[in-house]
Amino acid sequence: MKIQVDDAGNVLTLTRENGTYQFHAIWLRDNAQDADTRAPGNGQRLIALRDIPAATHISDARLDANGVVITFAPEEKTVVFDVAWLTQHAYGAQSDRPRGWLGDDVSLWDAKLQEQVPTWSLPALEDGGSDLKSWVEDVTAYGFGKITGGPTDEGALFRIVDLFGYVRETNYGRHFEVRTEVNPTNLAFTGLGLQAHTDNPYRDPVPTVQVLYCLESSATGGENMVVDGFAAAHRLKDENPAYFDVLANHCARFEYSGEDGVCLTSRRPLIELAPDGELIGVRFNNRSLGAVTDVPFDQMELWYAAYRRLGEIIDDPAMEVTFRLEPGDAFIVDNTRVLHARKAYSGTGTRWLQGCYADKDGLRSLRDAMRRATLEAAE
Ligand code: FE2
Repeated sequence: MKIQVDDAGNVLTLTRENGTYQFHAIWLRDNAQDADTRAPGNGQRLIALRDIPAATHISDARLDANGVVITFAPEEKTVVFDVAWLTQHAYGAQSDRPRGWLGDDVSLWDAKLQEQVPTWSLPALEDGGSDLKSWVEDVTAYGFGKITGGPTDEGALFRIVDLFGYVRETNYGRHFEVRTEVNPTNLAFTGLGLQAHTDNPYRDPVPTVQVLYCLESSATGGENMVVDGFAAAHRLKDENPAYFDVLANHCARFEYSGEDGVCLTSRRPLIELAPDGELIGVRFNNRSLGAVTDVPFDQMELWYAAYRRLGEIIDDPAMEVTFRLEPGDAFIVDNTRVLHARKAYSGTGTRWLQGCYADKDGLRSLRDAMRRATLEAAE
């Protein structure tokens, strides 16, 4: 291992057996881990960038047993950097990522996942420990999971949210009821299947997690179905990159104004990318798509062809995973990624589900905190 600083003191080069890493002086100073820069207890930064001179450069750097010891001028401040921390936080290698790239923790899936639907029992999850850790890893990797063995009491769905976060209350309340009476006279109406969709794209921000919990289910059919929206977007891109681009490059509009005093609208694309091309969201809901007015005139027919093809991919049985919810069963979806639907009914009976929204920052927080605890226990 060796280090080198350029003549101006602006760039530190760290050469290890596994690679070469470069860091700018201003980045290193801003990310110093000393007790005057970061609070030892909670790690919060104690200074603002305005407290660091714009002319900051490296006046001295050396290796010792503790790591890389760097002195910054003009402050004449010396800070020790842990070598493992530096290599974990290296930057600059990301420029060749393809449009639509996904984080390492995302596992795409299609109908082949049918035999391995991630399924966990609520009592085991509530015990915490390794089951909860595996569950939160699966839910964040696949964007959905099934939960079984819960009680059939009203409000039991909140016990699932309690595992990782907080209910997102909306104008539908803390939760909403999905009651279906299926009989020969109304079968055509209430028993119809629904096209797979993400919920509430007209909200800003959209609810990022949905939980649906089954309390009664005596009707035949009515299975639940999920589709990986990220896998559908990738398939669209593989088939026709221009389709992917037109849906990602232009905003659609979504709206809901179905009750007095409510007029919810949003302006977001069907396929949402971060500025560096990361695929971060899919919105797809035919019922709440408004008049799309943000697509250039000469792109509108292409936009509609792309929207049609994305819908066909979503409807393709090769993309879907289906499961039946019995009373006491539930499922959770990442509503920014995984579409859900209900299949048609084929017999008479009743079905009663309760649903609610929550947010996925809590899921990721639980996952990462449990990962950190595992690492600390191993040390
Ligand atoms: Fe829905």
